[in-house]
Amino acid sequence: MIPYDMTADDAGDRLANFEKELLVLPAVKSYLLPAFHLAQERLDWLPPESIVVISSHLRIPLSEVYATATAYSELRLEKPQYGAWYMCTGVACEAAGAQRLIDAVDIAPEKLGRIDCQFLCSLAPVCTDHHGKILGRLTADRVRAFFMEDIGD
Ligand code: FES
Repeated sequence: MIPYDMTADDAGDRLANFEKELLVLPAVKSYLLPAFHLAQERLDWLPPESIVVISSHLRIPLSEVYATATAYSELRLEKPQYGAWYMCTGVACEAAGAQRLIDAVDIAPEKLGRIDCQFLCSLAPVCTDHHGKILGRLTADRVRAFFMEDIGD
């Protein structure tokens, strides 16, 4: 999926479509997390406009919606870079050698970002590819193989 870009020509349409789908969810506070997931599924991240729309629909103060979004590491508050992979550098993944993997595979820093815990610690070390697919129990050889496969896409 191409991440929502607030400067793109289709930004208004994509946000409007998300807003229409959001109306299906009951306008109650307990639907905040489903609303975040819907936004991230449709827009590939939570742009500021989506936070405003969610706040308005659920009638939750904007500051509370934003604060809640920051509490979940699986929610993206920054537009993902197309083609970027992310290595989890949470405690379990660090203990399982995430940093050693990053050093060993020697991939340009702009192609391999860092993310917080993805709540899949039992699969550490964990990485997400540019399609958002989560890959676990990684070794340097597996990461290199995934990257080679990615270049061939
Ligand atoms: S620390 Fe990496 S998934 Fe939890």
